Amino acid sequence: MLARPTVAITDSDLSSDDDEQVLREAGLATVRLRARTESEVIAGLSQAGADALIVQWAPVSAAVLDAAPRCRFISRLGIGYDMIDVAAATERGVAVANTPDYCVDEVVAHALAMALWLLRGLGRFDAAVRQGEWSAVAPYPRACRPAQATIGVVGLGRIGARVAAQAAALGFRVLACDPYAAAPEKAEGEAGGVPLATFDELLRRSDLVTLHAPLTGETRHLVRAETIAMMRPGALLVNTCRGGLVDEGALVEALRSERLGGAALDVFETEPLPGSSPLRQLPNVLLSPHAAWYSAASLAELPVQAARQVVDFLAGRPVPSIVNPDYLARARARADGPDGAGSEGARAVAPAP
Ligand code: OXD
Repeated sequence: MLARPTVAITDSDLSSDDDEQVLREAGLATVRLRARTESEVIAGLSQAGADALIVQWAPVSAAVLDAAPRCRFISRLGIGYDMIDVAAATERGVAVANTPDYCVDEVVAHALAMALWLLRGLGRFDAAVRQGEWSAVAPYPRACRPAQATIGVVGLGRIGARVAAQAAALGFRVLACDPYAAAPEKAEGEAGGVPLATFDELLRRSDLVTLHAPLTGETRHLVRAETIAMMRPGALLVNTCRGGLVDEGALVEALRSERLGGAALDVFETEPLPGSSPLRQLPNVLLSPHAAWYSAASLAELPVQAARQVVDFLAGRPVPSIVNPDYLARARARADGPDGAGSEGARAVAPAP
C-alpha cells in the first residue's frame, strides 16, 4: 500500500487546527513541527519528511528545501512570502503559493483607519483632551479638508488598489505608484482611475504615504533617510505591509526631528516590536501588533484556505495563487532528466497552475 502524502506545518501561531482537519479529511497525514528557526525546521523535516509544507513565519531556505527532498508544494499561511526562498524553490521544482484573499477588507480598513487617525490628528486631540485642554485647533492645526490632502499609495495590488479607491471615495486626492501598473520611469497615466506617478514623484506630492508592497530585495528600506528627504515636511506614513520596507532608525530620526509629522505602523523590522524600541516612546506614532489582517472571519478562513490549496495541488487540481509558475519547467526537467522519474529523491512532476 502506498504511504499517504505527508504535510508538515512548520509553524503557526493561529489558535486553530482547522488546517490539519482539512488535510486529514482529504486523506493526508499531517505533522506539526512548531519550528521557528531554520535549524528547527531542518531537524523537524529530517525526521518527518514532507510532500508539502504549510508555513507561517519559519524560514524556508535552500537548506530547508534540501532537508525535504520530496516536498513539491509550499503553502504560505498568509499573504507575504518573504520568509520563503522562492528562487531556491523554483530551482528545485517546488511550487510556492500564498493565501492572497483571506483578509483584504480587513487590511484595507486598518490602513484607512490609521491614515484617518493621522490626518485628523486624533492622537493629538485625544492627548490634549485628557490633559484638560479644549481646543479644536491647537492640538493639530495642520488638519485639512480631505480634498486638499493627497494620499500616496505605494503598490496597487489587491489591497493597495482598494485603499486607493476607498480613499478617493472619502474625498481625498489619491496618487499611486506601482512598477507593474505603468512604465516606471515616467509613470504618468492612471490605473483603475487612480493617477500614477513614479515613487519619487509620489513622495514629493503626498501628504500621507501608505505602503502596500511585498518585501523583496528591491523594496527593502524603500523608506530611508534619502527617500524621507524627498517627502513633504510634516508628511505622514502608514505601514501595514512589511516592516522591512522602512528603515526604522531613519524613521525614528525623522519623527524625532519632526521632519515627518507622524506614523502609523502595524509591521516592524523585528516582530514582536522589542520593548526597547524608541517607537514605543514617540508621540504621534500609532502602533498595532501585526493585526491588520485580523477579524474573526479572516482567522477562520486562513488555515482552511492554506490547507485547501495543499489538498488541491496534491490532487492535481490547479492552484491559482502559485507565485512561481516557472517551478513547473524545473519540475518537468527534473522528472525527465538523467536522475529523473523513479530515481530516489526526485520530486514528482507537479500539476500546472
Ligand atoms: C501576512 C499576513 O502575510 O498577515 O503578513 O497575511
